[in-house]
Amino acid sequence: MKLLVIGGGGREHALAWKLALSPRVSKVYVAPGNAGTELEENLENLPITAIDGLISFAKTEKIAITIVGPEAPLADGIVNAFQAAELKIFGPTQQAAQLEISKDFSKAFMQRHNIPTSEYATFTDPAEAHQYLDQKGAPIVVKADGLAAGKGVVVAMTLDEAHAAIDAMLVDKNMGNAGAKVVIEEFLQGEEVSFMVMVDGHHALPLATSQDHKRLLEGDQGPNTGGMGAYSPIRLVTPERHAKIMREIIHPVIRGMEQENTHYVGFLYAGLMITPNGENKVLEFNCRMGDPETQPIMMRLKSDLLTHIEQALNGTLNKAETEWDRRVALGIIMAAQGYPGSPRKNDVIHGLEALKFQQKINPDFYVFHSGTSMGGKDNKEIITAGGRVLCVTALGDNVQIAQQNAYKIADQIQFDDAQMRSDIGYRGIVNTP
Ligand code: AMP
Ligand code: GLY
Repeated sequence: MKLLVIGGGGREHALAWKLALSPRVSKVYVAPGNAGTELEENLENLPITAIDGLISFAKTEKIAITIVGPEAPLADGIVNAFQAAELKIFGPTQQAAQLEISKDFSKAFMQRHNIPTSEYATFTDPAEAHQYLDQKGAPIVVKADGLAAGKGVVVAMTLDEAHAAIDAMLVDKNMGNAGAKVVIEEFLQGEEVSFMVMVDGHHALPLATSQDHKRLLEGDQGPNTGGMGAYSPIRLVTPERHAKIMREIIHPVIRGMEQENTHYVGFLYAGLMITPNGENKVLEFNCRMGDPETQPIMMRLKSDLLTHIEQALNGTLNKAETEWDRRVALGIIMAAQGYPGSPRKNDVIHGLEALKFQQKINPDFYVFHSGTSMGGKDNKEIITAGGRVLCVTALGDNVQIAQQNAYKIADQIQFDDAQMRSDIGYRGIVNTP
């Protein structure tokens, strides 16, 4: 059968790559895809982004199932539109995706359903927001309500920074509509984990646990990014904690959505803070898989992702069983010069061809592409085309070995002024007894 994956980043490369490994899949189209998906044997890029264009394509090409990668098309109602056209699509509807689209909706939803999260208040009036900040003090967190591509959160260590964030969002309106409303929330200390599940409206199928590295620089310093690397699984989520997260967070989300007449179907990502006294508090929900977490998670998934997606669409995820590689997978992001601000594009990437040959004798690594495209001489070179460029992912018997294996591969890839952290997975190594 033929599938269609929406998106063009590393997450979509990993999802499409994994789906194409299913014996029942003949081709996976990726819209719009990147150079990585263009060069894969069973994948084909589709230069369409408009929803009506994608619907016509899915109809004429008899696409069995469409899988949505990023949040933007979900916010635009791609799932509603495909469903109205009687096409099968995996992802939450626009209403269900409010969990990610609006931080205010998400916080109020958590409060209605007793899901553990930090204390908060929402404002549209700058004077009231400033007053609330003075009352609460710093550190404190200011978040734009709407989607802001990872740029809408200010973790303010001082009140000055927090007041400036309010002015930037509510007075200067430099986040546009996304910042017309702000959520101010209590600062949480602890260690972040990424907890992802697949949901069929009633049941959840947990995927492997993972941890992302959000800051640009070693030791979790510097500006926030979409993620500079990730690994899976993580020891911090013990079987007991896993059960607690399912019981106190994931199941209440699904039940809460049902009670509010919005069945949630799709991937669901809970970004959690494990506080120093061991509580699991929700920082945010995403209505999609994480990037770069998907890359190591897909490397470890041994069962058929297509089967799980079918189970999700049939409402039978309670009968699903995932199978995982017991090893650790670790992915390192190579980012362009200037990321996360204004990344430079069009640098030629060297070393990928030679790695394709190594791949044939060593299946324990994979180079997933994010912001890449074909260009350069005769349009035959792979060039940088976005902030995060590649996610070099490798398996190993423990975090340290997976880390060594991944860096050995990354060191064979070059492009001008590439940025790469040298410590991806370090928390996993610290946590290893
Ligand atoms: P979000 O998009 O809401 O997950 O926020 C982006 C990042 O900001 C998170 O991954 C955390 O590193 C940080 N962050 C968000 N909310 C809080 C909070 N309440 N306390 C501390 N850090 C936070
Ligand atoms: N890596 C974090 C995210 O996908 O939101």
